[in-house]
Amino acid sequence: MTPDADEAVWLPPTRLGAVPDFELERFFDRFEFDLPYQLGSSDPQTLSIGELLPYADERQRERWHTLRLGYRTAAGDPDLRAAIAALYPGRGPDDVLVAVGAAEALMLTFAAALAPGDRAISLTPAYQSLHELPRAMGADLELVPVEREGDAWRFPFERLMEALRPGIAALVLNTPHNPTGVAATAEQLSAVVERCDEAGIRVIGDEVYRGLEWSLRTPPSVTELSDRAVAVGVTSKVYGLAGLRIGWLVTGDAALRTRAMAIKDYTTLCAAGPSEVLATIAVGAHARLRDRTRTTCEANMSRLEAFAAERPDLLAWVRPDATTISVGRIGAPLLGRHRGEPEAVLAHWRERAGVVVAPGPAFGCAPDEFRLGFGRADLPEALAALAAAG
Ligand SMILES: Cc1ncc(COP(=O)(O)O)c(C=O)c1O
Repeated sequence: MTPDADEAVWLPPTRLGAVPDFELERFFDRFEFDLPYQLGSSDPQTLSIGELLPYADERQRERWHTLRLGYRTAAGDPDLRAAIAALYPGRGPDDVLVAVGAAEALMLTFAAALAPGDRAISLTPAYQSLHELPRAMGADLELVPVEREGDAWRFPFERLMEALRPGIAALVLNTPHNPTGVAATAEQLSAVVERCDEAGIRVIGDEVYRGLEWSLRTPPSVTELSDRAVAVGVTSKVYGLAGLRIGWLVTGDAALRTRAMAIKDYTTLCAAGPSEVLATIAVGAHARLRDRTRTTCEANMSRLEAFAAERPDLLAWVRPDATTISVGRIGAPLLGRHRGEPEAVLAHWRERAGVVVAPGPAFGCAPDEFRLGFGRADLPEALAALAAAG
């Protein structure tokens, strides 16, 4: 996908029509739906509609049963926008634009915020949209590598601060970060956003994993720290509701939000009504659903630590700062048994254990690295299958 660089790298613009394949999505298209154990995925254990509805109050239940299936407002359901705004102190429903997933919220944000020739900064490795979409809007992209010590990753605070110079239009800041699970602390985030405000750089915060921090307190959102910043969120990760396809952007910059909404008229026009009503229930029950996801992830991280200690021949794994995901490394003995070919190991895990992990190079990681998600309830069975496959 992108160079696995020690040094900052510049990527030239591309066109939306010429955007390269989304490597992770092409991979999932082949393996996400037919194999039993999805350890490559970032969305945690999901809920059924029947499991979600008990979180609704009486009015929300009534809305669900009487909802008429017509077009919806472009800005997003007013109750949903109010529920989302309540997650961002200082912001109101008019600062929120609902979108179809974070996927669309990012597309709208980049289209509204960037113009050809703009310079932007993003981290590497990365969720591929955070490189390709800014480039497709015509931006020149500088990549700042996430730091690492062995198999542990570290938020590149100093490098990022150095890269924030006047003349840069936007910082694309994915924290907590996919795929490494690093996260900026509240102090680091405040310093970065302050530097950006001083230098006239807009912060575009991909905060889809915010609320799933393990070794730090949840920092404020970038939209709480700067009026120009844009925060992107979604129901997929914290709530385990990826299938709703409800995301959002929140910003105090009314002109940017208006521009994003005008672009949305050409993409999806409005979100699906049933999804908006169910998302209102989920966001209204934020703390309870977040804690449900946190409980599963925390138990699974302990299991993974024990597994990595017992089976270093199979994999190396270090607990991340945050998120539902992490970067693992194939154990050298296992890699050796497969002629040193990481793809052969991943195929062996799929074929012999029914376990899917995502290939590291799809994010810009090394060939012997893979993304390992730990939000699913069947992780113990998946690890047992890996151990048995050897
Ligand atoms: C960092 C990041 N941003 C955005 C998205 C898109 O979220 P969704 O697919 O729910 O729209 C993802 C999904 O994995 C992600 O990891």
